[in-house]
Amino acid sequence: MPQLKLTVNGVDRTLDVPANRFLAEVLRYDLKLTGTKIGCEEAECGACTVIVNGQPVDSCIYPAFKAQGADVLTIEGLAGADGSNLHPLQEAFVVHGATQCGFCTPGFIMQAKTLLDENADPSDAEIKECLKDTFCRCTGYKSILSAVKAAGEKMRTGHLPLPEIPDVVEPLEQIGKPHARPDAVEKVIGIALYTDDYLFDGMLHGATLRSAYPHARIVGMDTSKAQALPGVHAVLTHEDVPGDPRHGLVENDWPVFAGGKYPARYVGDPLALVVADTDELAHEALALIDVAYDVLPAVTDPVNARKPDAPVLHPDRPTGNLLKHIKVRSGDVDKGFAEADVIVERTYRTPMTEHAFMEPECSVAVPAGFDADHEKLTVYVGSQIPYSDRRQVAKSLGLEDEDVRVKGTLMGGGFGGKEDIAGQVHAALAAQVTGRPVKILYNREESLRFHPKRHATLIRVKTGAKKDGTLVAVEAELYGDSGAYASLGEKVMTRATTHATGPYVVENSKIDCYAMYTNNAPCGAFRGFGVTQSAFAVESNMDILAQELGIDPVEFRRKNAMRVGTTTATGQLLRESVGMLECLEKVENGIRNWRLKNDELRIKNGASELGAQPNHHSSFINLWEPLRIGKKIFAWGLAAGYKNTGLGGGAPDKSTAEVEVFPDGTAAIRTSSAEMGQNLIGVLAACTAEELGLPFDKVRVLVMDTDLTPDGGPTTASRQTYVSGNAARLAARSMREQMQAVLAEKFDVHPDVIAFHEGLAYVDEAAGAGGR
Ligand code: FES
Repeated sequence: MPQLKLTVNGVDRTLDVPANRFLAEVLRYDLKLTGTKIGCEEAECGACTVIVNGQPVDSCIYPAFKAQGADVLTIEGLAGADGSNLHPLQEAFVVHGATQCGFCTPGFIMQAKTLLDENADPSDAEIKECLKDTFCRCTGYKSILSAVKAAGEKMRTGHLPLPEIPDVVEPLEQIGKPHARPDAVEKVIGIALYTDDYLFDGMLHGATLRSAYPHARIVGMDTSKAQALPGVHAVLTHEDVPGDPRHGLVENDWPVFAGGKYPARYVGDPLALVVADTDELAHEALALIDVAYDVLPAVTDPVNARKPDAPVLHPDRPTGNLLKHIKVRSGDVDKGFAEADVIVERTYRTPMTEHAFMEPECSVAVPAGFDADHEKLTVYVGSQIPYSDRRQVAKSLGLEDEDVRVKGTLMGGGFGGKEDIAGQVHAALAAQVTGRPVKILYNREESLRFHPKRHATLIRVKTGAKKDGTLVAVEAELYGDSGAYASLGEKVMTRATTHATGPYVVENSKIDCYAMYTNNAPCGAFRGFGVTQSAFAVESNMDILAQELGIDPVEFRRKNAMRVGTTTATGQLLRESVGMLECLEKVENGIRNWRLKNDELRIKNGASELGAQPNHHSSFINLWEPLRIGKKIFAWGLAAGYKNTGLGGGAPDKSTAEVEVFPDGTAAIRTSSAEMGQNLIGVLAACTAEELGLPFDKVRVLVMDTDLTPDGGPTTASRQTYVSGNAARLAARSMREQMQAVLAEKFDVHPDVIAFHEGLAYVDEAAGAGGR
């Protein structure tokens, strides 16, 4: 092998590496500097940015030997490994909350460093230009921009400006106050561990053969050539699955491998897994597997899938391609439309959408007894539902749940796309068969092809209103393309259905939704969970209706807005906290004020120079009239939406957390709920600290471990702050009450006067009931 000599973070390195290695691979896998991330392998996302001889490069496509003799700086080279001596950028990313899932963070910091090294006082435009090829899916970039500016100021003045904290709530002792995320420092210095960062001695690599056809019976498969390739340890197919051949979040309909009685049902269905010494070798072996397909007719449209002559994907289901027919009925829809002065009926299509989390899926499984840390079969994975993973892995391997441990790793974003099984079962099976740790890492293309997406929908919606703008009826028919497997299709499309009247009072409704199986990629959870699709259709109709009625679109929405005391189409009485009117007012005022300010500017600078526009210095402003300023035209749109929080639909919306306190005045909170960048760990720490009267940083948080943390339920439906936050709060409160009882007995006082503050318990006669 050729020899590579380079300096990395000030240390001279000499390595024997294959000539086709990329720099990111050398850094991550040969030097174990896993702070440099790989997100796309196409120099598109910037997660792999490192600095070579002072210049930023995308190390995922940068040939390692191009760095021969070069000086390479990675995220690990900016600060001490213990988080000491943070670079101003690292410090600013922590303080300004510019790291969420953190997968993009090293790339951003390295890219921004090259800018600040040349110009420590860059303009917003210069920062945006510098970071334009570095992607973040979590933050929305605002905090990143403010962090880079703040770092520049620190470099110039030695002073790091703090972010502006909106004064929206009355803070308690800990809750409502700004705290740096508990994992922020490890994310900015590059030691935070995502699944692909786990490396074990003797680890093998798995690669998955996927169906080339959307619908086909597998009539033959010859794996002998792949098996014979030196370095290949196993080729696994459906015949090697010892337990349940199918898995699924809700419906058990997704084969571990297509084959035998289960056809391939989409391009991407797994047919075989090759386990080899290296990832490259495993992929090489895939090409040696011969598959004989009996290609079947495919259906790729949910409307066609409901037709009687459509190919049936799951013949064992009594409802054929219909996954679920969901209905909502309220009032008398015919009577409602009879009262309408204007009726608008349109049909809308929304596309399938990809989550594009920055970190592609990865699973690592370590067999039972491999070493002292792995008494049982252990799966490392970034998963939104660790206990569900454990159940599905155990079932397909023919094991008891307790025989499997799922250890959650940090996740480079999930957004609903990491709820279903990806490589977990395959990795566990491969580890069982080979007796060695096995890693399965999807590349971006495989991730795109494989995992469940946002549902494509077809939505026909008919909306009726009276002349005065009162909505009287909504009738809707929705088709949701759930793809080849159920995933969470039924639940997602239920949300689309229950929200199909929008956030408005509509007395009469008739809504039918058909969640359909097709031969497309499966569809499941994605932020918004079905509501985004129906909101698009509902709001489009609202704008057309407003126009036909000659009513301002904000006024039209305000007139029909849900408020406290109204009832939804599904019969739920809204008892409290309905912010629709307040929200509309704020948005409307925001637009109006912006227009007024810019209109004044226009007048001041001379209307002729900035474009002829009516003078809006009257109380009436047509908010929707485009405003031209110079060569730019500004225009606004407004849409309203609402979304349930929690699982709903009668599902048990519960979580569990346990708290432990230690003699050194610290506490630990544990739940299996998932941290995927949303800072659940900060929420749990704050809730626990609040109840126990502890400083925020005296609470340690452990999440996502089925052996060490109780079941927090699925991390989905925007529910964790409420359910796991409350579980933490109640567990901590119970702990506090027990400590109060013990201390009261010891000091012969009433429990209510035992107070807790800054990690100390003391008697406070003035504390009164509850103590604090
Ligand atoms: Fe940027 Fe998650 S914090 S991708």
